Amino acid sequence: MSDVVLKIGVVTGELASQRSDVWVVGVYQGGEPQPALAACGEEVEREVRRILKAGWLRGESGESFFLPIPAGSGVPVERLLLVGLGKRESVTLEGFRALGAAVVKACNKSGVDRALTLVALDTHRKLAGIKVMEAMAEGAWLGSYRFERFQNQDKKETPRHRLQKLAFALADDVHKRAGKRLQRAEWIARGVHLARDLANMPGNLLTPEILAKKGRELAERLPIKTTILSAPVLAQKGMNGILAVGQGSANPPCLIVMEYRRGGDKPTLAVVGKAVTFDSGGISLKPGAKMEEMKFDMSGGAAVFGFMHAIAEMKLPINVVGVVPAAENLPSGTAQRPGDVIKTAKGVFVEVINTDAEGRLILADALHHAASYDPDVIIDLATLTGACVIALGNHASGLLGNKRSLLKKLRQTGERCGERVWPLPLFAEYQEQIKSQVADIKNVGGREAGTITAACFLSRFVEESRAWAHVDIAGTAYDHSGSRAHMPKGATGVGVRLLCRYALTERM
Ligand code: BES
Ligand code: MN
Ligand code: ZN
Repeated sequence: MSDVVLKIGVVTGELASQRSDVWVVGVYQGGEPQPALAACGEEVEREVRRILKAGWLRGESGESFFLPIPAGSGVPVERLLLVGLGKRESVTLEGFRALGAAVVKACNKSGVDRALTLVALDTHRKLAGIKVMEAMAEGAWLGSYRFERFQNQDKKETPRHRLQKLAFALADDVHKRAGKRLQRAEWIARGVHLARDLANMPGNLLTPEILAKKGRELAERLPIKTTILSAPVLAQKGMNGILAVGQGSANPPCLIVMEYRRGGDKPTLAVVGKAVTFDSGGISLKPGAKMEEMKFDMSGGAAVFGFMHAIAEMKLPINVVGVVPAAENLPSGTAQRPGDVIKTAKGVFVEVINTDAEGRLILADALHHAASYDPDVIIDLATLTGACVIALGNHASGLLGNKRSLLKKLRQTGERCGERVWPLPLFAEYQEQIKSQVADIKNVGGREAGTITAACFLSRFVEESRAWAHVDIAGTAYDHSGSRAHMPKGATGVGVRLLCRYALTERM
């Protein structure tokens, strides 16, 4: 895993005694600096106000401006970094995540080694300094992620400079709690980085077998027990959904199970993640355009890895089982065909109309297997349907499930943590669309409501009495715009923060 190199800490005592290259201060839109600017002394404050008046900086989010500080001004640094906070009345935690990433970026560009930020000294709107700090730190770590292992040194985007240390000045009364929060944010960020690393790997270098090996490696370093169900074992257990999807590839499929038990006799949370290491569509071959993006089709599984990693580092007192069905969907002489009928582990017969609707086939067996751990909640994450990208675009994942209270919690968690999920209905009427002439169900439900009918399919593999939520991350798992500072291009690691924050608030 690419290490989180950026060190982030909290500063105690006199600001002036801190070794730093720049101080960071926020400016609201309209040119009003945050109150903490006063800590820089009158002379600097006057200079800042002069610059704001001149309109060199407007305070819009994303803006940054380095101001040289004359010697003897009382501020022990050579430069001040002014950053835009956006409209004062509408600042958000998500805005501060982006800000944290923007600070890192500005520092990297300008050769800054150590920065001290005063942004979290103030309460912004209703957001207390400690929350602002947590969001900025998370954003800083998320934004400093790079996937460069296949680029020779000279081609790397920023070989020149990296910010080494970011320190937060905080109001005195919150210092104690701050360290703990920072540590937690770092563990979560490391989980996101792991998920991104896995999802960014190309199909040739991350096969189901290699992913299984990564699962075993987690167990070596962390209090996690990993079990791999290889293809012959899957056959014994009748997991023909996973086998059918993988049968066209020379790389055999498998089921990766990771158990984390530190919750005593508390109930178990099961998280299931689709890991199609490459999805060509199979015999129902996808068009060539952008097919390379289907290396990201294991992002649900990657999120489960990242989540397990984070909770194990946090040593959370909970019980979790992570279930990751892994397969490669390729066309060949041994591939499954449209029209095939398979018997899933649960005993449900499925008619395969389209081999490109493979995610639900592997999830069918994985969900059924997850139920054998008798969890009280099952959450699955999957890049399941293109229809979800049409419905919600890139700014929210689709959310479906069978229990209102669980869906509500996930929606709230997503809103707070910056990984939004948005509900779609699972009305019984939609089940009609997956009725089959020859089997119990078929694996496609027609063009209409594609995300919903996919979830209908999954629902057949979860008992109605068990709380279950399905998160369709097809539109959020990777980003090609790079438009959000804390979401570099490529895999986003979506799902890790959602699951972590859910686990933290639930402590099941
Ligand atoms: N992995 C794809 C879904 C996908 C599409 C993810 C775009 C990310 C971006 C999935 O396996 C798939 O191919 N789904 C089909 C289902 C259809 C055949 C019913 C789809 O959405 O077109
Ligand atoms: Mn597919
Ligand atoms: Zn797929």
